Amino acid sequence: MRRRRVGVLISGRGSNMRALVEAARDPAYPAEIVHVVSNIADAPGLDYARSQGISTAVLSHNAHPTREAYDAALSAHLKAHDLDIICCAGFMRILTPILIRDWEGRILNIHPSLLPAYMGLHTHERALADGATEHGATVHLVTAELDGGPTVAQAKVPVLPDDTADSLAARVLAVEHPLYVRALALVASGQLSRAQEDRNGQ
Ligand code: GRF
Repeated sequence: MRRRRVGVLISGRGSNMRALVEAARDPAYPAEIVHVVSNIADAPGLDYARSQGISTAVLSHNAHPTREAYDAALSAHLKAHDLDIICCAGFMRILTPILIRDWEGRILNIHPSLLPAYMGLHTHERALADGATEHGATVHLVTAELDGGPTVAQAKVPVLPDDTADSLAARVLAVEHPLYVRALALVASGQLSRAQEDRNGQ
């Protein structure tokens, strides 16, 4: 099977993007990371992508008058790179239907909580404030509902009594990387849609 061409959208550190790039070094991995886009010009993740010889682009949201205009330009840019799948990885933008419709079923996001718990921002702080005993991360398909699309895979971590938001975030991040690698493999190999068809057929 042809390896799926993947573009990754970032806004910052890019550690999840890096995990995907490292996994895709294995020729047996069903996806290759061919392009990285950031909306922030000095996102540290861009340096890593460039160091790996991956094509990168900066598309600043400030250059567009509306959210919709930015998403239309971003979607056109991604289409021009002949991508099969888009992975949002710390891309700090709320996407509009203009972009989501173009990539429906082919755009993933990683969110640092066990969705549907703690949609939105400050997930670790909110989990601690609630006294949650379990926390984690979710990779989901992106739909028009913020953090609300179908789950592809989840990873759980315990919340420990002396956790701070930082210690909890670090524990979650450590499971995010293998989680995103596994989730992208499921989508890129077509196993996810087959699993859904099987369930629908029952
Ligand atoms: C991760 O915690 C991810 O779940 C969230 O933003 C963070 C991005 O980290 N969406 P990185 O840029 O991949 O290191």
